[in-house]
Amino acid sequence: MRSMREPAERLIIALDVPSLGEAERLVRVLRPSVRWFKVGSELFTAAGPAAVALVHAYGGSVFLDMKFHDIPNTVAGAISSAARIGVAMANVHVAGGEAMLRAAAQAAGQGTKRRVLLIGVTLLTSEQADSRSSERVVQAARLAHDCGLDGVVASALEARAVKQACGEPFVVVTPGIRPDALAEDDQRRTAGPAEAIRLGADYLVVGRPVTRAVDPARAVQPIIADVESALTDRVV
Ligand code: C5P
Repeated sequence: MRSMREPAERLIIALDVPSLGEAERLVRVLRPSVRWFKVGSELFTAAGPAAVALVHAYGGSVFLDMKFHDIPNTVAGAISSAARIGVAMANVHVAGGEAMLRAAAQAAGQGTKRRVLLIGVTLLTSEQADSRSSERVVQAARLAHDCGLDGVVASALEARAVKQACGEPFVVVTPGIRPDALAEDDQRRTAGPAEAIRLGADYLVVGRPVTRAVDPARAVQPIIADVESALTDRVV
């Protein structure tokens, strides 16, 4: 098994596209530089489990980003279904509450193969940060940890505090990564790839900066180089 220190293990490309054809175009050119692909609401609603199978056909791993939030029984069922189709990482809203989180965590460990890494969504990174954002994220992370989840989605700015509250093995997945600090879109609490890794993020989610580039295979290279340099600096 490859080490988590390899940049290819750390980067998750968000396949936020409306069709299987477009997803395949991206996966084809981005493998093997990237191992992880995120299948979210847009692609999964359009293509269903075929989108997951597509990534698997190229030897990649899937983060199913459906941000489940429903009654405990329904969310546990959704996580069991994700485990059955071989999803390696999935997420639920921490706001769903303790019973839902515990049911989801139990379902994540009941697959026939390895456990689905279960990640809690704290605050959406597009939300405007306020003075209490970090506190709210850490509080949500503590609840997720206590309920048996494996990690949370959090901005780079909260990664260190989450690790301090929940322990180093508790996974931090960080979206809103912008290679260009001046990029302007709907992401608010952004960070560069190297900065996010140095601040303690385990996985970086990158979408539009790569997927909307004229040449995605080329656009991903400086991000990988940045992750690589940050990993050599980082102690853990
Ligand atoms: O295109 P961009 O790099 O902004 O994509 C970020 C991805 O991360 C999107 O797919 C978005 O749904 C996801 N995400 C996020 N904030 C969260 C959780 C997921 O931006 N808290």
